[in-house]
Amino acid sequence: LFASVELAPRDPILGLNEAFNADTRATKVNLGVGVYFTDEGKIPLLRAVKAAEQARLEAAAPRGYLPIEGIAAYDKAVQELLFGKDSALLADGRVVTAQALGGTGALKIGADFIKRLVPDATVAISDPSWENHRALFESAGFPVVNYRYYDAETHGVNFAGMLASLAALPAKSVVVLHACCHNPTGVDLTTEQWQQVVAVCKEKDLIPFLDMAYQGFADGIEEDGAAVRLFADSGLSFFVSSSFSKSFSLYGERVGAISIVTQNKDESARVLSQVKRVIRTNYSNPPTHGGTVVATVLNSPELRAMWEEELGEMRDRIKLMRTQLVDKLAALGAGDFGFVKAQRGMFSYSGLSAAQVDVLREQHGIYAVSTGRICVAALNSRNIDAVASAVAAVLK
Ligand code: LMR
Repeated sequence: LFASVELAPRDPILGLNEAFNADTRATKVNLGVGVYFTDEGKIPLLRAVKAAEQARLEAAAPRGYLPIEGIAAYDKAVQELLFGKDSALLADGRVVTAQALGGTGALKIGADFIKRLVPDATVAISDPSWENHRALFESAGFPVVNYRYYDAETHGVNFAGMLASLAALPAKSVVVLHACCHNPTGVDLTTEQWQQVVAVCKEKDLIPFLDMAYQGFADGIEEDGAAVRLFADSGLSFFVSSSFSKSFSLYGERVGAISIVTQNKDESARVLSQVKRVIRTNYSNPPTHGGTVVATVLNSPELRAMWEEELGEMRDRIKLMRTQLVDKLAALGAGDFGFVKAQRGMFSYSGLSAAQVDVLREQHGIYAVSTGRICVAALNSRNIDAVASAVAAVLK
């Protein structure tokens, strides 16, 4: 049965964790996967999460099956984070939300549902995009193409190229957009640019699919929701996948959601019924723990304030690491990396080549994605000097 099974390549991001874990060098640094570490190099257990978990433990709640679409209080809290508490869409019943297994699970539910709706659709992802976007939509049966996005010369967006690519897509193509903190480049659109993207999606009858894995890591919860809010105001039907892996530091709990904006309440009821079928035939219904914790935090004014403060601390520490890295590289004569300060979220597209990334790993024990993406959120006061020196050495 398995005689002709070929060995699959390691995952370009999670495969790095496997290699990192097997590395015995004490000085190794993992800048590969998108995980926030504290200045002590630890994945934090947020204070708000700990308080919610303690309350949950004390309540000793039974673990019955959740509804297929997850915890109602969780789904509602997700909607308010994405669309705003006073959103007209929410009041009109135009948003369907289902708890999902992280952002990846949300993307997959959305992809499987779209495959049933528009089986011949093409999916367009940014060039470059999160490695798993292409793999995930291809495995859902779609052809995946790139739209122009990153401009390596300017370390910015090739916006004219992006608009032209989008305008050239066939009607009913799915356009995967990074709502904030673009992964891997850290380069986001301005509000004016988002308005033009909304207009092109409308004019060309495209299906926007916004991926929101880093809300709160650029400027703040509300600010980072700006692109979602622009689409919400556009009258379009669209998809949003969202995740609490990073913002709640709940990576292993797989807490995410798929939200689908419809035209009216009646459509919402029908869409939800179909999304439930997709979920039921994949994993039946979601797990209880992470969703309960997030719902508890978001629905308690005190815990929510605590969480926002902690999210702010993470955001500020990442920004500090960006500044320090740029300064240290300049001091080492490695060149002007000022663009790293303007990038947003956890990642920096450093400009290092795949060959340079190999040298970083092999000679210095520093792990980065082969595209040159480094996770700035894994830098700290203990490893940043070694990282800066290694990058400078690799560039010489
Ligand atoms: C990343 O891009 O590193 C994260 O989103 C983790 C993952 O699942 O790839």
